[in-house]
Amino acid sequence: MSLTRRNFLGVAVAAPVAATVVPLNAAFAAKPLTIGFSQVGAESEWRTANTASIKDAAKKAGINLKFADAQQRQENQVKAIRSFIAQRVDVIAFSPVVESGWDTVLREAKRANIPVILTDRGVKVSDESLYVTFLGSDFVEEGRRAARWLVEHAKKNPNRAYNIVELQGTVGSAPAIDRKAGFAEVMKLEPRLKIIRSQTGDFTRAKGKEVMEAFLKSEGKNITVLYAHNDDMAIGAIQAIEEAGFKPGKDILVVSIDGVRGAFEAMLQGKLNVTVECNPLLGPQLMEAAKAVKAGKPVPKRIVVQEGVFPAEVAAKEFPNRKY
Ligand code: AHR
Repeated sequence: MSLTRRNFLGVAVAAPVAATVVPLNAAFAAKPLTIGFSQVGAESEWRTANTASIKDAAKKAGINLKFADAQQRQENQVKAIRSFIAQRVDVIAFSPVVESGWDTVLREAKRANIPVILTDRGVKVSDESLYVTFLGSDFVEEGRRAARWLVEHAKKNPNRAYNIVELQGTVGSAPAIDRKAGFAEVMKLEPRLKIIRSQTGDFTRAKGKEVMEAFLKSEGKNITVLYAHNDDMAIGAIQAIEEAGFKPGKDILVVSIDGVRGAFEAMLQGKLNVTVECNPLLGPQLMEAAKAVKAGKPVPKRIVVQEGVFPAEVAAKEFPNRKY
């Protein structure tokens, strides 16, 4: 008995039944996994490293990556996710610009039977089964670590004032919400730590500089600490501090988060006091998780990335080891 099928060139051929089963299965097995990935944007040095890690890991793993840059806009991410659903990708992964407003589109992905992996940032949804796993940092802990460094600094400097200006990340984003909360929790341990101004700098250097200029204009030398939710805003703000005639790292302590190359350079110049690491190199873990999900293997609901804290004193020793 035989039946007709198409070979890889699309030509109709006759083949015995037993022989058709094996090559067709083999053809399916050889089909590369397709991941649709919606990235936040290109707002920071961290994000550039994160994008490079994801693209590079997909290439190494032989995964077909459909990459969409949302330019920091949730509506662009929703469009990208809908387009991935229409294209019937195997797995959808995304780093959500903001925490809320995902229920509808994630329900559409679930109805289409396409698993979703959250990368870097989490979401607030009514039904946790709308995503399979969340791979990323513990942002609350990062905020706590930043505050802990200041609490320790205050213990060693009993006569210093700690009037903090805070540069928040993108409004409504998980890292901005969590880093603020973690910092606020630990700063209570030292009553001299006071937040005198707090505003978003949208995770960019340009906005960090602009908002710091405004803080300096209204508060002047009353400011003794800058807490920035990422290194890029801190680097922009350092420029504003210098232009206003103050010494960053001395007159104004600078504490930030990410641990990117630019922050290490600023520490080596004595302009930044400490950076709390947030590891952007999530590509290899994301590809592993996607393969496991597609193969029907169990994956943990939460995969937390291990990270450290780098004060300026260790910057010279650590700098050559930095990968981003
Ligand atoms: O979500 C991670 C944060 O987003 C990084 O701290 C920041 O630099 C980026 O823009």
